[in-house]
Amino acid sequence: MCGIVGYIGSNTAVSVLIDGLKNLEYRGYDSAGIAMNNDSKINVYRAEGKLSNLCNVLSSSSFDEYTKGIGHIRWATHGAATLDNAHPHKSNDGSVVLVHNGIIENFKELKSELTEKGYNFFSQTDTEAAANYIDYCYKSSVSLEEGVIKAVNGLKGAFAFCIMSENEPDKIIAVRKNAPLIVGLGENENFIASDIPAIIGKVSKIIYLDDGDIATVTKDNIKVKDFAGNVVNKKVETIAFEAEAISKRGYKHFMLKEISEQSDIIRNTLAERLTGTNLPINLAGVKVEEILSKTKRIEIIACGTSLHAAMVAKNIIEAFAGIPVSIEAASEYIYRKNITDAETLVIGISQSGETADTITAIKQAKDKNSHIMVVTNREDSSIVRYADSLLPLRAGIEVSVAATKSYTAQLVSLYLFALKLAEAKKTVDNIDLRKFKQELLEIPAKLEQILSGSKSIKEIADKYYKIKDFFYIARGANVATAMEGALKLKEISYINANGYPAGELKHGPIALLDENVVVMSVLMPNSSTYDKIISNCEEAKARKAKLIAVTSSNDEYLNVLFDEIIKIPEISEELSPILANIPLQLMAYYISDNLGREIDQPRNLAKSVTVE
Ligand code: F6R
Repeated sequence: MCGIVGYIGSNTAVSVLIDGLKNLEYRGYDSAGIAMNNDSKINVYRAEGKLSNLCNVLSSSSFDEYTKGIGHIRWATHGAATLDNAHPHKSNDGSVVLVHNGIIENFKELKSELTEKGYNFFSQTDTEAAANYIDYCYKSSVSLEEGVIKAVNGLKGAFAFCIMSENEPDKIIAVRKNAPLIVGLGENENFIASDIPAIIGKVSKIIYLDDGDIATVTKDNIKVKDFAGNVVNKKVETIAFEAEAISKRGYKHFMLKEISEQSDIIRNTLAERLTGTNLPINLAGVKVEEILSKTKRIEIIACGTSLHAAMVAKNIIEAFAGIPVSIEAASEYIYRKNITDAETLVIGISQSGETADTITAIKQAKDKNSHIMVVTNREDSSIVRYADSLLPLRAGIEVSVAATKSYTAQLVSLYLFALKLAEAKKTVDNIDLRKFKQELLEIPAKLEQILSGSKSIKEIADKYYKIKDFFYIARGANVATAMEGALKLKEISYINANGYPAGELKHGPIALLDENVVVMSVLMPNSSTYDKIISNCEEAKARKAKLIAVTSSNDEYLNVLFDEIIKIPEISEELSPILANIPLQLMAYYISDNLGREIDQPRNLAKSVTVE
C-alpha cells in the first residue's frame, strides 16, 4: 500500500525512480510523483492516476543533472486521489520534501498546532502535516537529521519516510516505524525502497530497517540511528530474489503468469518437506513438539484470501489432528475481548507479511504468551519478527494484486502442517497418512493437468462474461473455495459475486436467482454431502439460474443438470480445495480479460494493506 523509492548517486535519478515505481505499481495507483535534487534546488513532479501519467508529465524535459531523488506511488488513505494530495509533499517554504507510506494518526492535532504557528496546508493528507512538522523541528536543529529525530518522536501512527532538503542536498533520510523500508547498497550510489522489487537487479546487498530506525543515506555512506539518536549497527543481507521474479515472461498479465506457474511453485513448497510417503514430514522452523506440549486450541488470524486459507486449515486441522480451531478476520480480532492465552497456538497467515491488521493481531497474541506461528510468502517481512514458528510459502514474489499462487501455496503448507500434527499425535492411521502424503506429492502434476485445460475454461468465460451476478456454492472445506472464487471474480472483474455454503442458499440468497445469474458450484463425488449439493443445484436450476460445476465426478446426471462442467482430476475430498480453486482463478481471469479490466491493478485495491 503506497510505494516508496529513493536514489542518491552519480547517475540520473529519474530512470531509477521510475523503474522502481513501475515495479511497485501493484502497491497503489491513485497518483505518482517524484522529487529530484540537483544540489541547488528540488523540483517536484506529480500526476493523478497511474504512473504512466507521471511519465507523460516528465517526457518533455531532461533531468540529466539530477542525481538524487525520491518517488512515490499512492494508494489514497487520507484525502482523495487528487493531484494536491499526491506525494511528494513539501513544507511551506519548500525546505523539506518527503514521501510517506503509512498513516500519521495525530495529524489533525499537528495541523492545528502548526496552523497556529503560521503554517498553511494545501492538501487533505496527513503527510503534509508531517512535512511541515519536520520542517518546524528542523528550524530549531543543527541538522536535518536532528530535526527528523525530534519530529518522529512527536508523530503517532505508522510511517516510512524518505526525506530530502535543499539545505542539505547530499543526503536522503529514511525513517521506518510500522511500515517497511529497506536501504540498497550500491557502488558510489545507494537506494531506498519500501519493497525489494523497486531495487531488484540494481543492488544485491540490502539493509532491512527496523521500526524506530532513522537512516541518513549519502551516495557512499549509510548511518543508522534510533529515535533517541543512538547509533545502531545494522546487518547487511543479500537479496533473495532474482530480477526474473518480477518479469511477466511473455504473459499478458502477472496474474496469468502466476496462475500458470503454480505446479512449479508447489514443487518448491513441498521440496525437502515431503520426500516420500513413508518418511516423516519435515517442517524446519515449526516447533511441533513445543506446540503440541502446550496447545489446547488454535486460533488462525488473517485477512482476505489468507482468511480463506484459514477456513480450509480449520477443516483439516480439526479433521486430521483433533485440535479445536477458530478463525477470525484480523480486523475483528483486534477490537474484541478474546480468550487467547498461553495454551493457544495463534497462526497468522499473510502472503505479504505486511498486512497491518494481521500484524496488530499477532502482536496482541504475542503479549498473551501464545506460541505464534507465521505462514507467509515473505520471510523478510514485518510479521516474521513475532514468529516463534515460521512456515514460509516459497511461492516467489507475487506481483498481481489478486492472490493466486500464494493461496495455493498457503493451502499446501497448511496441509503439511495439519498432517505433521496428525503424524506427531497419531490421530490419522498410517494407511491414510500415506494416502494423503501421496496425494500431496501428486498435486503438481494434477495442477498441470488443470492448467493444460485452460482453453476450455476460457471458452466458458467467453460465454458468461457479460452476466452481472455470480453465486459460488460448496460445502465443507470447499466453502472456502466458493468464497475465494467469488472474491477473485469480484476484485478483478467488478462483477457482483458471492460465495456461500450451499445449504445456506435457501435461507435468503435464493431470492436473487433467475435466468440472469450464474451459480458456480464445487462438488466432489466422494464427499458425504455430494447428494445434498446436487439438491442445492436443482433448487437453483428450478429458479432458471445458469449452472456451472467444478468437479471430478463422472456422474452422467451432471450433464443433464449443469450448463457447463469443468473437470478436475480425482482427489480426496479433504485435499480437493487445492485443485478446485484453480479453475475459479482462471474463470475470474478470463472473464475480467474479456471485460477489458486492468487485471493486475484492480481499482481501489493494493497488494499489501499496510493500514488498519
Ligand atoms: C485477494 C487479496 C487480498 C489479500 C489480503 C491479505 O486476492 O490479495 O484479499 O489476501 O489483503 O493479504 P496478506 O495475505 O498479504 O495479509
